[in-house]
Amino acid sequence: MTRIIKFSVLMLSIVFIFSNCEKNNKNNQSEVDDVMDNFIDSLLQEMTLDEKIGQTVLFSAGWEVTGPTLDSNYVVYLKEGMVGAIFNIHSAKGSKEFQRIAVEETRLGIPLLFGYDVIHGYKTIFPISLGESASWDLEMIEQSARVAAEEASSAGLHWTFAPMIDVTRDPRWGRVSEGSGEDVYLGNQIAMARVKGFQGDDLSNNNTILACAKHYAAYGAPLAGRDYNTVDMSERELRTTYLPPFKAAIDAGVSTFMTSFNDLNGIPASGNKFLLTDILRNEWNFEGFVVTDYTSINEMIPHGFSKDEKHAGEQAINAGVDMDMQGGIFLRNLKTLVEEGKVSEKTITEAARKILVMKYKLGLFEDPYRYADEEREAATLNKPEFLEKAREMARKSMVLLKNENQTLPLSKNTKIALIGPLVKDENHIIGSWSAQGDRNGKAVSVFEGVTEILGSSKNILYSKGCEIEGEDKTYFNEAIRIAKQSDVVVMVVGESEGMSGEARSRTNLDLPGVQKELIAEMKKTGKPIVLVLMNGRPLTLEYENKTADAILETWWPGTMGGLAIADVLFGDYNPSGKLPITFPRNVGQIPIFYNAKNTGRPYDPKTPEITYRSRYLDVANTPLYPFGYGLSYTSFEYSNLTINKAEFSLNETININVTIKNTGKYKGEETIQLYVQDLVGSVTRPLKELKRFKKITLTPNQSKNITFTLTAEDLVFYTYDMSFKAETGEFKIFVGTNSRDVLENKFILK
Ligand code: NOJ
Repeated sequence: MTRIIKFSVLMLSIVFIFSNCEKNNKNNQSEVDDVMDNFIDSLLQEMTLDEKIGQTVLFSAGWEVTGPTLDSNYVVYLKEGMVGAIFNIHSAKGSKEFQRIAVEETRLGIPLLFGYDVIHGYKTIFPISLGESASWDLEMIEQSARVAAEEASSAGLHWTFAPMIDVTRDPRWGRVSEGSGEDVYLGNQIAMARVKGFQGDDLSNNNTILACAKHYAAYGAPLAGRDYNTVDMSERELRTTYLPPFKAAIDAGVSTFMTSFNDLNGIPASGNKFLLTDILRNEWNFEGFVVTDYTSINEMIPHGFSKDEKHAGEQAINAGVDMDMQGGIFLRNLKTLVEEGKVSEKTITEAARKILVMKYKLGLFEDPYRYADEEREAATLNKPEFLEKAREMARKSMVLLKNENQTLPLSKNTKIALIGPLVKDENHIIGSWSAQGDRNGKAVSVFEGVTEILGSSKNILYSKGCEIEGEDKTYFNEAIRIAKQSDVVVMVVGESEGMSGEARSRTNLDLPGVQKELIAEMKKTGKPIVLVLMNGRPLTLEYENKTADAILETWWPGTMGGLAIADVLFGDYNPSGKLPITFPRNVGQIPIFYNAKNTGRPYDPKTPEITYRSRYLDVANTPLYPFGYGLSYTSFEYSNLTINKAEFSLNETININVTIKNTGKYKGEETIQLYVQDLVGSVTRPLKELKRFKKITLTPNQSKNITFTLTAEDLVFYTYDMSFKAETGEFKIFVGTNSRDVLENKFILK
């Protein structure tokens, strides 16, 4: 019997090969789809209810621990045909062994899908996602995801749990490091770039992997910035701010979605029919499959939404979940739920179908081992051109926050004291969620980077100064001594990588430990101070901003971080990054973001004597560094912001022109940002919304005229009655180097 069924799968594989020939011959797509549909229909007919349920089950192999529970029986379930996918394994060899069990030891031999958190690189580690986002360079971001997919696919993986596209405005939340920051428009563009990078043009190529839009939805807005916490927000805010990147990911062809841990307006995301069926399937017509986050179906019990595991399973599958990550709830309960009539078999068949479709598209029925080629893996991981790309991306991700008296770039003849707990670090530098990235001995530290660029270490003095955390000041004296012997003090300070990421919320965003005190000691030496920051989130840097002469935000810059930092410090690369998220002055200002509303009593700093205004008594309303902010070694002057007409009708195109001139001494890249304000709406509108940006390069004295075009489609919003449209009236246009320093003009939409 087993043989007969496997034979029929083999026959179906032959059909698949035909379908691929058709594809190669560029025959019409719908015929190709028909062949796939027929294949999957026939396979589903062969499958028992148990086997269909098996497809909806995902277990961690535990090679990596990314959640609170492990189930060591997963191989037993796998052999019973009750597992459709495995995550947290990697390597061509490792995946082959698991695939062999699925293909050779289960009744139907349906191949497994292998997933992994490939977030900012697999082996060659790029800057953390928030850092990459600071490049505002969509092409580079896509290339970074492409490199990650090349490496991951060569190591047997089919599916990454990325991109993480949660908009977030709360830097207390440790997962800001994984996303693209606070803005919807920038977030949409980055979501699309990453999906395209991972998935490429054709999933059946062995160097492309499935992407996963996560975490659906509103996970980036937990109360008080505490991970996994409650989210309660209006549908207008949800649709305006938190959902658009998910829709953008679908537009870019994303194959899978992951639910989030939080409850949204009282309903946990993994049991949320409004999110998973009404919006995702019925409004957006998403055709891929939905996986839960780690045991998030089980967690509907402590949420107080499900009375037991069976109830949770029923709620999840009926809400629209297709695959259960690690919870074992589908495995243990779906059959009974069908028998009891609480879940229809059709629902399970459809979930299994969506998963099988992805396996088919990846080409796994044709060759279950097509991604597991040890030779390709050896030739692919850490390829020199990947490392070069990682260095380029790291340079582009760095944001120059301050540069008093042109302290940077440093002359290569300067005598430098390299001080701080992260100078020689080769561990934290690659950041959290760094898959199979090599750390100690392989990642390039700042010390190595600077030494390599300067060619010798005769001008470099070093002291660790202190640890990242803790009270130990043993090295303070040594640090003071070498600082006094040098021309400039370069301090590499920040968080440990474990301070940003999942379950890593903080209420204090100052530099940890005694690092601030170390900075104070360095200040006393009278030497110029350059701070090189490594961290996964906006920190509160008022003291540092007052004290240091220059500050370079480098995030967690990845495998090549040390070299990229040295490139920037010595001017071999002129920094061009712009903040994708606001840096607050203190934690009390959070949440603080640029596209806030005006309120009825906006504060005007020109009239501080007026009491009843929306303000703090102890700190300015403004952030320390606004969204979109970032300096260059050169300077740019904006002028002549014009709009081609004063009034537009709804179907006309609005042309906005501006001139940018490089008025400094260095060639440099600038990201020109265009914001819009809709002055009066049927509901109140933000003070500014990013609508376009463009990166250009200018040599000294060069100027360029830049034209942006907008249409009424760029002005749509959820109006009073929740229709999504533009309203006529007056609009302001702002163009500038960040969200604060802008030129202004206006037009009327008739
Ligand atoms: C939990 C995280 O929230 C999610 O982002 C990740 O993909 C899964 N664990 C799997 O590791």
